[in-house]
Amino acid sequence: MIRSVVRGFGAALPKQVVTNRDLEARVDTTDEWIVQRTGIRQRYIAGEGETTASLGEAAARAALDRAGLTPADIDVIILATSTPDNTFPASAVNIQARLGMHHGAAFDMQAVCSGFVYAMATADAYIRGGLARRVLVIGAETFSRIIDWNDRTTCVLFGDGAGALVLEAGEGDGTTADRGILTAHLRSDGAHREKLYVDGGPSTTGTVGHLRMEGREVFKHAVGMITDVIEQAFDATGTTADDIDWLVPHQANRRIIDGSAKKLGIPPEKVVITVDLHGNTSAASIPLALNEAASDGRIKQGDLVLLEAMGGGFTWGSVLLRW
Ligand code: ACO
Repeated sequence: MIRSVVRGFGAALPKQVVTNRDLEARVDTTDEWIVQRTGIRQRYIAGEGETTASLGEAAARAALDRAGLTPADIDVIILATSTPDNTFPASAVNIQARLGMHHGAAFDMQAVCSGFVYAMATADAYIRGGLARRVLVIGAETFSRIIDWNDRTTCVLFGDGAGALVLEAGEGDGTTADRGILTAHLRSDGAHREKLYVDGGPSTTGTVGHLRMEGREVFKHAVGMITDVIEQAFDATGTTADDIDWLVPHQANRRIIDGSAKKLGIPPEKVVITVDLHGNTSAASIPLALNEAASDGRIKQGDLVLLEAMGGGFTWGSVLLRW
């Protein structure tokens, strides 16, 4: 049985760090309020010359280096982003060009904060379906460029960054002992689309627009949706919370992460948290967190790793993989 196995990982962050104290000078907020409600202490904000594609390229190069591969070895690039450099072409082809890659295919995937989970599930389907042998899966965002910097209820939450994985076809025997993606579950419900959206777009206003969010509404649905798709992953594989070595959640809010882990019975020491360092980087948050925990030796080959995300749309999903 073909499995999509992680061969390399990497990440990239903008140069500029913006702390909660820095934001106190900009809007009516406090470090204490932000830390207490979200767990965020700082975030990275893209400066001049730093874009979704430039950050994505840097993360992709780091992942290729770690895999001992070059762009020539990649068949498909999937970029999860809601903040592309241009309306079109896809920023994935921008990254493809920056990598000097002229073969294969590259496309963007838009599922907001769930984008990386959607991209992983898609890459897995490509690999298992024989359409690709190696897929570069990237999550890259510059949410700072769609934030209303006068809106204290949203501007304190988000940050910029990118992370990437190289997935490669490997042989498995069809059991949960296999390395690679074991199961993926995607959901969406457009009835909730106006609870978290951007108030502009090419076909409506002809502008880029700004992020708008009913924070309390998002919060209300998040834990239930997240735990639902994780239960689906457990059911599909016959695994339980006890089998999980690492939960690597989308990093939106510490309270949502803690609430979901608690409801599932996953102890805090098995949960990878980076929201304090990066803020909410949307589709980039999971690969950034994977990069942290795999670089510092927490996530090791053979570990059972559970990814989950929930975001605008609403979209939500889970991926269970053996590292
Ligand atoms: N600083 C200080 N005060 C603030 C700030 C701020 N940055 N933002 C809002 N407040 C005030 C509000 O104005 C309000 O004041 P009032 O009571 O005088 O009206 C008070 O704080 C409470 O506001 P709430 O919106 O009720 O605060 P809440 O406890 O719900 O926390 C938050 C807000 C953090 C956004 C929370 O709702 C949340 O985490 N929601 C989930 C949304 C999320 O994480 N989204 C990320 C994107 S989606 C995703 O990735 C899953």
